[in-house]
Amino acid sequence: MEPINDNSRKVVIRIEDLRKSFGSNHVLNGFNMVLHQGENLVVMGKSGSGKSVMIKCLVGLITPDSGYIEVMGKEIGTLNRQNLDELRSDIGFLFQGSALYDSMTVRENLEFPMRRHKEKLGGFHDTTPLVLEALENVGLGHTMDLMPSKLSGGMKRRVALARTLILKPKIILYDEPTSGLDPITAKEIIELMRSIQKKYNTSSLIITHDVDCARVISERMILLVDGINYADGTFSELSSSSDPKVEAFFKK
Ligand SMILES: Nc1ncnc2c1ncn2[C@@H]1O[C@H](COP(=O)(O)OP(=O)(O)O)[C@@H](O)[C@H]1O
Ligand SMILES: [Mg+2]
Repeated sequence: MEPINDNSRKVVIRIEDLRKSFGSNHVLNGFNMVLHQGENLVVMGKSGSGKSVMIKCLVGLITPDSGYIEVMGKEIGTLNRQNLDELRSDIGFLFQGSALYDSMTVRENLEFPMRRHKEKLGGFHDTTPLVLEALENVGLGHTMDLMPSKLSGGMKRRVALARTLILKPKIILYDEPTSGLDPITAKEIIELMRSIQKKYNTSSLIITHDVDCARVISERMILLVDGINYADGTFSELSSSSDPKVEAFFKK
């Protein structure tokens, strides 16, 4: 399948012919994907289909066997440690079960990435305004001095999202952002993701197997099947497809 060629929107992530096997387990067999500036792109795939492997290749946590990956104009495979670190400061991750540090307060959890990327923030003395802004974006300004153990599962996920936002990323990668949450809390998280996308015009790649999440948030979707971008389109296009492999995703 050809990558979508939409010249009106800047491409912020381009993946071409990505391949990755673990021994005889051929996980990615030529996956292609383009994420445009400001877009909400959902990649859906069954459990074990290689979604997390793909996203880890994207940020250089896993080295693919072959393929081309470009993020904001930089080819991942050619970057040294320091360049990769700089690039990562523009990318927010909300990974599966993004854990908070239990021994740190909410504020300290949010300060953690700030210390690591001090230069980007232009040096700082008082972290409070930035921490508060990030927490207020997720409706949790009042939790700044609490320990994570005092928060519900949904609140922890929102704090993790605030921690992702604190570096003002240009791209946010969400790996199963609603997994393990009850449907109401999942909806709240999805609404937050939408409001953040609007407020900061971030480009978002959302990996999920949650059909409701995909319906609400996706502008465009890619289905990852057998290690490739099997189908591509809007939610309504894909959910009305008569291809059995595509239909399987939307059957309840
Ligand atoms: N580091 C690894 N070593 C070996 N196999 C792995 C590794 N990471 C993932 N896999 C395998 O790759 C496949 C895809 O995994 P993953 O990307 O985590 O799936 P999902 O789509 O559920 O996120 C699975 O079969 C998994 O066992
Ligand atoms: Mg996964």
